[in-house]
Amino acid sequence: MGICGTCKVRVLTGETVMSHNGGISEEEIADGYVLSCCTRVTGDVEVGY
Ligand code: FES
Repeated sequence: MGICGTCKVRVLTGETVMSHNGGISEEEIADGYVLSCCTRVTGDVEVGY
């Protein structure tokens, strides 16, 4: 549901669209992180930690 932050990963390549409920900070988003439970990918994506 985008609250706990457990599923946070960093998007290394590719495009994503995220709709979260506060489980990630604006700073983390600016650094390329997403919550994988509430993120859609729009093509090939590579993620890391
Ligand atoms: S924010 Fe809790 S599992 Fe994704």
